[in-house]
Amino acid sequence: MTEQDEQPPFLYVVVCAAGIAAGVGELIAAAQERGWQVGVIATPLAMNGFFDTAAVEAQTGRPIRFGWRRPGEPRPFPQPDAVVVAPATFNTVNKWAAGIADTLAVGTLCEVAGLGVPVAVLPCVSATLAGHPAYQDSLIRLRGMGVRLGSPHDGGEGAEFGWERALDLLG
Ligand SMILES: Cc1cc2nc3c(=O)[nH]c(=O)nc-3n(C[C@H](O)[C@H](O)[C@H](O)COP(=O)(O)O)c2cc1C
Repeated sequence: MTEQDEQPPFLYVVVCAAGIAAGVGELIAAAQERGWQVGVIATPLAMNGFFDTAAVEAQTGRPIRFGWRRPGEPRPFPQPDAVVVAPATFNTVNKWAAGIADTLAVGTLCEVAGLGVPVAVLPCVSATLAGHPAYQDSLIRLRGMGVRLGSPHDGGEGAEFGWERALDLLG
């Protein structure tokens, strides 16, 4: 491969159905500024009004993926060089840790564990839900898999989400 053929690194941004997801364009812009090509994989519920899907598709230049491809269809995105999950919901964190791949988003996260690429997560989970023992076990399990976890955010409007933390965690 010549230098001209070299593609910028590819970042998967996994978006879950948390209210804060409305701001995900900020993360995409910051990632692109740092030289990443971005492909968004959303949970089916996140596609249901949690963020501006048309704006994100225009921003990334690619369709958002949220459903499984049909057998025989090529993979729409290249393999990732890194993955961020932001915002990560209680539901997706627990399913990912348990290996319950019932959405493309969780299935993809389960798969990337075997790729050896950096994976960074910004959970957005209320303090009451975060106290659930299953969630705490999930975080321990994900950390043990090498997943890089951002500090907790409860989804409240007072505090900045700090989208760029996800990119900083990738190193
Ligand atoms: C307006 C709204 C905001 C929500 N915000 C959050 C949130 O910040 N964190 C969270 O874990 N769940 C939140 N939820 C609940 C999730 O959408 C719900 O648990 C869903 O099953 C998550 O699906 P997903 O993990 O496949 O995206 C919110 C729901 C609604 C309707």
